[in-house]
Amino acid sequence: MPVDILVGTQWGDEGKGKLIDVLTKDIDMVIRFQGGNNAGHTVEIGDEKYVLHLVPSGIFRPGVACVIGNGLVVDPIGLVSEMRELEERGIDVSAVQLSTRAHLVMPYHKLMDAFNEETKTRDKKIGTTKRGIGPTYADKANRTGIRAVDMLDLAGFERKFREQATAYNDLFSSKDTETVDLDAAWAELKDAAEYLNSMICDTVVTINQAIKAGKNILCEGAQGALLDIDHGTYPFVTSSTTISGGVCGGAGISPRAVRNVYGVMKAYTTRVGEGPFPTELDNAAGEALRQAGGEFGATTGRPRRCGWFDAIISGYSCMVSGVNKLTITKLDVLDDQPELLICTAYELDGETINTVPADPIKLSEVKPIYESMPGWECPTTEVRSYDDLPENARKYLERIEELVDAEIDIVSVGPNRVQTFQK
Ligand code: IMP
Repeated sequence: MPVDILVGTQWGDEGKGKLIDVLTKDIDMVIRFQGGNNAGHTVEIGDEKYVLHLVPSGIFRPGVACVIGNGLVVDPIGLVSEMRELEERGIDVSAVQLSTRAHLVMPYHKLMDAFNEETKTRDKKIGTTKRGIGPTYADKANRTGIRAVDMLDLAGFERKFREQATAYNDLFSSKDTETVDLDAAWAELKDAAEYLNSMICDTVVTINQAIKAGKNILCEGAQGALLDIDHGTYPFVTSSTTISGGVCGGAGISPRAVRNVYGVMKAYTTRVGEGPFPTELDNAAGEALRQAGGEFGATTGRPRRCGWFDAIISGYSCMVSGVNKLTITKLDVLDDQPELLICTAYELDGETINTVPADPIKLSEVKPIYESMPGWECPTTEVRSYDDLPENARKYLERIEELVDAEIDIVSVGPNRVQTFQK
């Protein structure tokens, strides 16, 4: 069983890119299985910082196959510009494979995403990344999508694009909003299709051949469990399956092939975009966490909302994803805190609950019930082994472990590859 999965257990931005990069030391293939360039995976190697949106985080390890699976929605223009940028920085991108079955984000999907957001009333806005993710998955479900395989036949691709874009433009015109410039967009799409042509293949076959050959495979989740289309805080979610189960559909991998599920969890909680967030600190303490943690979106640059660790949502995520290896990131961001709060239950309508209400209105009404722990008030960024952590930091981690019912495997105390150790 050579397949490991790594998923986010909160609202995304848990530090998955860094962890994938660390774990790929002994890996032969890294697979993205859902989402699109709404993701922003930051990897720091030495003095260099890279932000990946579609290219799997294994790209910095020579010899690692990097698969963009069938479950993604891929902006071909965005993907090509990301790959060219990597090439300009000396990174070899020839190991990238793009699934024939992946759906394509077209320029009209991005306009539709922006239009949907702009026309919603304040309380209904999702705060999407405006990368066209939702509209592309909607077309996929409507069976009107255009897929990577279509790029292999340029004439057919152009016909499909113009047909769909014209229908969208008619709709945009009727709403008096921006339309797609068909010729300009086609020029960019054609360039992208030509660049990507040699990378488009049946990745379900290449992946399963690798499994059969006993290769080590890591599936790289994007976003987090609380943004999952089914298990997240619907409707304030993304449009894909972000939990570990998404690997089966999104990469064409049998559940029997799965070995470990790594759950990446920040030592506190953040969220970008709208939607309920029970432990949010909408005050100076939240601002201090934001500054200490550099909590600004890797894709959109938006300030992230920050709050205390929430064991209810994180425990739910570990349960649905079957996390058996927990990775705690950004522990160092809490170094200056004299006291740490952990949410261990919610109060709702006078009752104590320890589950996540499905109704977003109810979830926005819960009051977190906190447990207090003393901070460690000393730097941890130079710590390189679990036993060298301050005692209060170890106690904090062990309490998290107990509350979310998953064992800690890795702790990260800074953005660099070297600031990582096993428990
Ligand atoms: P969409 O995926 O662009 O449709 O956005 C839906 C929601 O998911 C919004 O709240 C976004 O802020 C959030 N989101 C999407 N991708 C990420 C991510 O990579 N990290 C954190 N939040 C994300």
